Amino acid sequence: MLSIVVPTYNENRTVCLLIDQLEEALRGLPYEVIFVDDSSDDTPNVLQAICAGHPRVRYIHRQGERGLATAVLEGFRAARGAVLAVMDADLQHPPEVLPIMYREIQDGADVVIASRHLPGGDDGGLHGIRKVVSRTAGLIGKAALRRLRSVTDPMSGFFMIRRRVVDGVCLNPVGWKILIEIVVKGRYARLVEVPYTFRPRAANESKMSPAEMFNYLRHVARLVMQSPDDRRFWLFAMVGMSGVAVNTLLFSLLGRWNVIPETAAFVSGSLAMIWNFAWNCGLTWRDAPHADPLAVTFAKYVVVALIGIVVNLAVLSMFYRLLDIPKEWANLTGIIGGALVNYRLNDRWTWRRWGNKRARMRIS
Ligand code: GDD
Ligand code: MN
Repeated sequence: MLSIVVPTYNENRTVCLLIDQLEEALRGLPYEVIFVDDSSDDTPNVLQAICAGHPRVRYIHRQGERGLATAVLEGFRAARGAVLAVMDADLQHPPEVLPIMYREIQDGADVVIASRHLPGGDDGGLHGIRKVVSRTAGLIGKAALRRLRSVTDPMSGFFMIRRRVVDGVCLNPVGWKILIEIVVKGRYARLVEVPYTFRPRAANESKMSPAEMFNYLRHVARLVMQSPDDRRFWLFAMVGMSGVAVNTLLFSLLGRWNVIPETAAFVSGSLAMIWNFAWNCGLTWRDAPHADPLAVTFAKYVVVALIGIVVNLAVLSMFYRLLDIPKEWANLTGIIGGALVNYRLNDRWTWRRWGNKRARMRIS
């Protein structure tokens, strides 16, 4: 059975119409609808009336609680179906897309996201500024979290999953975006997106607020810390930046003591590398299986650093000489390229996570 979870906050004018449209769109499919309502207006009364006439529809009213993401989780707990869908109550998410999503599940998908950003989709229902905010939020999420990178619309509030994707997974979202929580932490092999047109709101107004944007950033930061690979990468990046600071500081200090620049660069560069190594040992790869003695790990680290420098130079030179990009930008791309290779090699070789059982078991 398909369980459709619909969070509502003061949506008294659209819920009846939504039920009619769902009935029309899902004819012949076994489904149930669960409203999870936090309203302060008369929406609960409207929902009660709907339930009286529709055996497939139930509603939960939460007293004194609010929050879109937790409302969805409440709906998941109450749902009986093996397939769970989430959609908004305001008719911005067209019910006709549900059968298409359901077919994808039957064809073997574990997660199906309705996307505004695929060819054939459209986010026409958002005004200019909201469009920009939504896109920016999506880009921030994709930059921070690896699993969001293959998704065109990670901000979607319209999706369908098999229940086993979230069964036994500890979900504790902050605020609004339940989907990123599921994509980052869920257990799935096949994620599919289908295009849809985000329609203008039919009635009442949007509940999105600046506070929710702040919550979103907190949520992304928390997910980074909770997902081992993303955490490692960002810790590595921060350690690297602290190394640059240490390097620069030492270099200017030595300059003040009249040490010649070449010597100063060598000393501060080497010390910064030891600084980075110490932090990466104690922080970034703290939970990695340390199979080697410390000296061996350090030797590998130095080798990787040298490879990183070579990659850095190669990328810089390619961008500068072949593509004619200003040398400062070419250098920046070189640094990024070198750092990425550095991270990868350290992760897989220096700290020996190559072929590590835990890494192999992870599905994505
Ligand atoms: N139970 C509950 N509690 N429901 C809530 C709450 C709450 O605190 N806040 C909002 N809702 C419900 C609304 O009643 C609506 O049904 C749905 O959540 C989405 O809220 P909207 O106010 O309509 O949000 P939006 O249209 O600006 O954005 C929505 O669509 C986008 C595109 O899919 C959201 O779902 C976004 O997350 C999404 O990006
Ligand atoms: Mn809406």
